[in-house]
Amino acid sequence: MHCVVTGVAGFIGSTLAERLLAAGHTVRGIDCFIDYYPKAVKLKNLEISLAHKNFTFLDENILAADLNRLLDGAEWVFHQAAQAGVRASWGELFQTYTDNNILATQRMLEACTRCKSLKKVVYASSSSVYGNAERYPTIETDLPKPVSPYGVTKLAAEHLMCLYASEYHLPTTSLRYFTVYGPRQRPDMAFNKFIRAALKHEEITLYGDGEQSRDFTFIDDIVEGNLLAAARGAPGAVYNLGGGAVITVNEVLRLLEEIVGPIKVRRLESQRGDARHTGAETAKARAELGFAPKVAVPEGLRREAQWMERLLASS
Ligand SMILES: NC(=O)c1ccc[n+]([C@@H]2O[C@H](COP(=O)([O-])OP(=O)(O)OC[C@H]3O[C@@H](n4cnc5c(N)ncnc54)[C@H](O)[C@@H]3O)[C@@H](O)[C@H]2O)c1
Repeated sequence: MHCVVTGVAGFIGSTLAERLLAAGHTVRGIDCFIDYYPKAVKLKNLEISLAHKNFTFLDENILAADLNRLLDGAEWVFHQAAQAGVRASWGELFQTYTDNNILATQRMLEACTRCKSLKKVVYASSSSVYGNAERYPTIETDLPKPVSPYGVTKLAAEHLMCLYASEYHLPTTSLRYFTVYGPRQRPDMAFNKFIRAALKHEEITLYGDGEQSRDFTFIDDIVEGNLLAAARGAPGAVYNLGGGAVITVNEVLRLLEEIVGPIKVRRLESQRGDARHTGAETAKARAELGFAPKVAVPEGLRREAQWMERLLASS
């Protein structure tokens, strides 16, 4: 297939692009290196893809790029680009979220309506659309009620995906990712910060009492979910993608201590916008996509720690 991956220099987009290339697909990627975290980190994410003969890269912003050119011949589109991060989405930065998450998605969808070769658009939605959900595990039809402005923008973009499916018959499928981790995880995310601090014998900052729980999902399982959704996702459908085991942040710290040694923790008040718990019901993704997450948290943490060790050793 000829694939387009937006946000291709990011954590998930870059890993997905490599997997598509390894499977024999061609990939055209776009990323404008928004400055949420350093460009150098993203360039490193792109190294392997940039060296591949079937990869082309556009260093451009979706808000300004010629999207007809980007989508020329595209069969599968994986829309991963977004301004990520829950905590920064309050206050003045909100416009960055509406621009990159809502407006950019709407531009992509309009361009997709003109793309005759298109077979599927897969959208990277988020468990943050649920907020403090009405029940756990949460199913796709439960009422979304985000507790952060970020979650509101992800939900708006997801609704746009469904709207273009019903009004323009665009084959869009949205995947609600539950906290993704593993090699290349964004530097603002908890496991990255915890492992980096532990390996450097620095104190880590923990927001809240540590009893908040998450359905952590390993990056390879998310990438696999994207490939399955491209091949089998129903048009206009939304699927939860969760790792399958809900654990607390305190439990993560205990597991990490077994891998990297003792960790010094400084506890601070919980932050506005963080849901207390997340937990995915994945029956729909299992039945319709064949989604079956393979990597459990202890193994996934070990792989992220090994990656971080190599990264720190090379810097
Ligand atoms: N990481 C997670 O746990 C998680 C959980 C739920 C959902 N998601 C979603 O998955 C997607 C990927 O997340 P990630 O963790 O890889 O984030 P990331 O920040 O590493 O990657 C996103 C990339 O998109 C690019 N981008 C943003 N706006 C752009 C624009 N207008 N034009 C071109 N490029 C643009 C950024 O420069 C960045 O490299 C996002 O849509 C995010 O909302 C991530």
